[in-house]
Amino acid sequence: MLSFTFEQSGRIVFGRGSLGEVGRAAVSHGTRALLVTGRSFAASSGFLSKLVASIREAGLEVHVFSEVEPNPSLRTVERGARLAASKGVDVVVGFGGGSALDAAKAIAALVKLGGSPSDHLYPKSVEAALPVIAAPTTTGTGSEVTRYSVLTDADAGRKVVMQGPALVPKVAILDPDVTDYMPGRLVAGTGFDALSHALEAFLSRRASPLSDLFAVEAARLILGNLAKAVRGSREAREVMLYASMLAGVAINQAGSTLVHGLGYYLTARHEVHHGVANALLLPHVLAFYAQRTDRVDRLAERLGFRDWVELVARVCELADEVGIPESVASVGVPESEIDEMVREAAFYRRNIENGVVVPSEEEIRAVYASAFRGRRELLRSLRRS
Ligand SMILES: [Fe+2]
Repeated sequence: MLSFTFEQSGRIVFGRGSLGEVGRAAVSHGTRALLVTGRSFAASSGFLSKLVASIREAGLEVHVFSEVEPNPSLRTVERGARLAASKGVDVVVGFGGGSALDAAKAIAALVKLGGSPSDHLYPKSVEAALPVIAAPTTTGTGSEVTRYSVLTDADAGRKVVMQGPALVPKVAILDPDVTDYMPGRLVAGTGFDALSHALEAFLSRRASPLSDLFAVEAARLILGNLAKAVRGSREAREVMLYASMLAGVAINQAGSTLVHGLGYYLTARHEVHHGVANALLLPHVLAFYAQRTDRVDRLAERLGFRDWVELVARVCELADEVGIPESVASVGVPESEIDEMVREAAFYRRNIENGVVVPSEEEIRAVYASAFRGRRELLRSLRRS
């Protein structure tokens, strides 16, 4: 029986040179803009001064908040919101990777709602925020089209999330020219974030035939283009920017699941890049789901593979090709932490219980143990059985 809801508000502008549209997009939503970005790339690449000029030329007053760190903290969001409120800002422009965009979205909400960021975390739903214009500079996050802002509670060492319809940017501006500046390692990491979004959305209990369209197409494009994009192909990077947006639409509908749920620990406690954390878990999570549901076989079939084992093998091969570390152990996380990792997983139930299969504590431990052993060992064991 077919039954679903699909809601995707916001304008999406895609194309080389589209960054020049930021000013015009902002002026249709406000008069005083806060430009939210990271600490270095926007300034060093020269994009920051171009964006400020574009916004000014459109007739807006503009203030810059360029203090967003990787995995932005609640405190950073609070500082940004204070600056925005003191300047009477009425539109927020986010320029950067997932961290800058998520911070921009949270700042936009906090200015409108007041209080501190922790007052508005999931399970609360953000129903009001200043309008956001989002321009991604990496090819993975999808944040420019989602209702999520993932932040870090630095005191607790945990990833936390604000979510709600008001956080979906009013305009997403995707300019493939900005991806020329991405180092290959960043393309690899963020590309695996996007691949995880696509595959997890397909394996979500909220997946629908419509979200599957976005998920499958995103996965197909990423599997075919990520390695070339990492090596520097401009065409492949353009495809990756498009595919990461598609994967963003897929998770905006269906939500992420076990890969994100288990990967957050690695980022929150060990500063493993979010996309790399996902990459380290993805094959092991796929193998876990495949043993419990035929959805992984169906996904493999939709992507043109013979069976799920072939899909897992391809994901492992791609991870090797783009230089993702072999295992959780190889990024320096001690295996003695596994009890703590399993305990912390309870905190990420929102993601874990969103999957088509909900793992027991023992199963979570087994997935982590497999990720500690690494991809090669996983493939060996799959081929033996
Ligand atoms: Fe992600």
